[in-house]
Amino acid sequence: IQVLLICGGGSSEHEVSLRTADFIERELQKCGDLQLTRVTMSAEGQLHDGSGKLRELRSDRLLYSSNGSAQPVDYVIPAIHGYPGETGDLQSQLEILGLPYYGCGPEASKLCFNKVTTKLWLSALGIDNTPYRFLCANTAEETAKARDALKRWGAIFIKASNQGSSVGCYKVTEEATLAQVLDKAFRLSPYVLVEKCLTVRELEVAAYTYKGELVITPPGEVCAPADTFYSYEEKYAENSRAETHVVAKDLSDAQLGWIYEASKRAFIGLQLKDLSRIDFFLTDEGDIYLNEVNTFPGMTPISMFPKMLQNQGHDFNVYLADLIRSAVN
Ligand code: ADP
Ligand code: DAL
Ligand code: MG
Repeated sequence: IQVLLICGGGSSEHEVSLRTADFIERELQKCGDLQLTRVTMSAEGQLHDGSGKLRELRSDRLLYSSNGSAQPVDYVIPAIHGYPGETGDLQSQLEILGLPYYGCGPEASKLCFNKVTTKLWLSALGIDNTPYRFLCANTAEETAKARDALKRWGAIFIKASNQGSSVGCYKVTEEATLAQVLDKAFRLSPYVLVEKCLTVRELEVAAYTYKGELVITPPGEVCAPADTFYSYEEKYAENSRAETHVVAKDLSDAQLGWIYEASKRAFIGLQLKDLSRIDFFLTDEGDIYLNEVNTFPGMTPISMFPKMLQNQGHDFNVYLADLIRSAVN
């Protein structure tokens, strides 16, 4: 089976995607019946192989080299965080080509990647999420909503709606910095979310299909240092002080049950496929909110998704190879 692994892409998470692809490549090398070709998509959308040569996936489902030679593609792994992978654009192209691929379809991807549509869908599904306001333009009128939210909630998170890995997320506690932070968020995204800043434990589950069955792991936990939040640096920098626990401690049966049910409802209701990491906030008051659904979660050395699978007794290569074989055969 000829598998095409596409990584990189045009988002702020390009580099993270390369690390995710390193993991997937290493895992699939363990599967003798899968021949893997890895290409990196540039910010402009061109595919390059390992030696930097241009490659092109055409409508005949062949991957062409610049010298005109071509190889078949049976299955695609769109290992791209953000545009155009997690936004569903690449998956739309694969649907048109009729090529099976790993992960969620275009619609689920798009609505989960956008932080505003995620909230609308979660509410429609009856799943609690953090209190928020929605700004659709960087105007005085819209900024007033953020100012009111800051007065009401004391501290807020401003979030660009179309980023991941904490890019475009800012904690604001003083009105003096509000305008500058909104400028930064609106430079990244046409829509901005203002959320109540909560004191939280951050819990994450892996939700995925293993040999045809939906699996939802018990929550793991990520702990950012007390003086900051789980920012891009705390996620990926070598000197990160964040800690991760593959199984979160001291959760009641009721809390575990709530998280399990909400994850299941989200996976089914949002029509997710193959994989996702669903992230929750547990507040000091004991409320649980679903924060976000990652349709192509990171698989870097710090990332929780692969660790949670492993803890569940599921080898990543066995899981993915099974999905590939079932999709192709
Ligand atoms: P991303 O999709 O970029 O991961 P998140 O919504 O998960 O964006 O936010 C990134 C991080 O910011 C979270 O992991 C958490 O540490 C912090 N954070 C986000 N929203 C809130 C909030 N409402 N209250 C407290 N911390 C928050
Ligand atoms: N967006 C990053 C890769 C994650 O959530 O894991
Ligand atoms: Mg997050």
